[in-house]
Amino acid sequence: MVKVDYLQNITSLAKRRGFIFPSSEIYGGFAAVYDYGHYGTLLKNNIRDAWWRAMVQLRDDVVGLDSAIFMHPTTWKASGHVDSFDDPQVDCKKCKSRWRADHILEQFGISADKQPIEFLNAELDKLRQDKKLKCANCGSTDLTQAKRFSLMVKSNLGSPTDALSEENAVYLRPETCGGIYLEYKNTLDATRVKLPFGIAQVGKAFRNEIVARQFIFRTREFEQMEMQYFLHPSMMKEKYEEWKQVRWNWYLEYGMGEDIIRWYEHEKLAHYASEAYDIEYNFKALGGFKEVEGIHARGDWDLSQHSKFSGQDLSYTDSQSGEKFIPHIIETSAGLNRLVFMFLDYAYCEEGEGEEKRTVLKFDKRLSPIKAAVFPLLKNKPELVAKAREIYDMLKLEFMCEFDDNGNIGKRYRRQDEIGTPYCVTVDFDSLEKGDVTVRDRDTMAQERVKISALSDYFRDFL
Ligand code: GAP
Repeated sequence: MVKVDYLQNITSLAKRRGFIFPSSEIYGGFAAVYDYGHYGTLLKNNIRDAWWRAMVQLRDDVVGLDSAIFMHPTTWKASGHVDSFDDPQVDCKKCKSRWRADHILEQFGISADKQPIEFLNAELDKLRQDKKLKCANCGSTDLTQAKRFSLMVKSNLGSPTDALSEENAVYLRPETCGGIYLEYKNTLDATRVKLPFGIAQVGKAFRNEIVARQFIFRTREFEQMEMQYFLHPSMMKEKYEEWKQVRWNWYLEYGMGEDIIRWYEHEKLAHYASEAYDIEYNFKALGGFKEVEGIHARGDWDLSQHSKFSGQDLSYTDSQSGEKFIPHIIETSAGLNRLVFMFLDYAYCEEGEGEEKRTVLKFDKRLSPIKAAVFPLLKNKPELVAKAREIYDMLKLEFMCEFDDNGNIGKRYRRQDEIGTPYCVTVDFDSLEKGDVTVRDRDTMAQERVKISALSDYFRDFL
């Protein structure tokens, strides 16, 4: 059996069909940054909206926020990012490839997550002595010691000098939750929420990742969907379990089976955290389970630090008991682009043989970029084209639709399969006489006749 190279196939389909393009290609590319084309943008927006619906719209205890990417630089000193948000970097002296020391060690079964640099170098030295340490790109054994590499991305925004220095550095946020902590007090005062409550936001984050080779899995510019839930510490255990379940169920609701997602429990916790679990998805394209979302019990560290550095009182006073305390926080943090990759990976199928072979993206229908494509059977019959246009104009008011009269019907089906459109509607001569059309289902390829007047209801039922 021929082994399918999923990473290659998904990457090339994503580009060919207008989901995701490598950035700045006409200038030779720009590593670890990607642009989203028409279908990629629609898919990403649908995932974002599905998350927002579950996390904000359907809940009474979570409100929304859209905070700025740039924040006062002290924010990131208070959070510890300026001093210690870094990864251990190893360079190949021969081919100049860059590697992460923890990733190298993990390939040898050595648990290296969040370990001190001295530990990493000691383990690398052992591999070096055993002649096992080699550059995965060129095979050279001439690799540097591991050194700390800051992931913070700097700018000189608003600075009167052209030169970027430590004094005028303003950071692009490395995670979106920083904005939530700074707007916690305003939100509390302005929206009449009471503890326990959450603030959710979706937005860009930037990290100077050392290694970013796995398509959109790890990029330098990406989007996060984060929610911070503020509560009294006595509720932590109960609410943490509740949020874990809520997030797990969200993945199940959008088609993930319990065999392809799993929990990963962090062994080494940040000093302020009491529990941290990741949801991992088994990527076909990456050959195994990888993190897509983190759910963390963060204690009162974030608000305490911002209170200390800003001099502002960020405590909460319970209106009934009068107790004054700094709220503790549960965080749910998912990467939107990573979820785009997860849903693409999950949906990607190659089916059939020879003439019947097709590539199809079997997205959950609610996430599909295009919900229905409308075709006239023949391009050169004006009455069919006019009827198909009329149906398209009616459906597009409610659903993201496409009109296509290019090539034969088989080719049009194949194209819609490759962008994951759940329904294709074909208008033929019977449609003109009887007022019905053929609706073809993406997954089963079954076709049925549906009255034009019933089409909107038909799609509403499925979508
Ligand atoms: N506020 C907590 C936080 O940022 P994280 O584990 O660093 O935690 C959360 O990131 C999620 O953001 C990850 O589970 C992943 O889905 C996504 N993410 C992190 N770094 C990323 C990157 N370089 N590219 C794409 N997604 C990333």
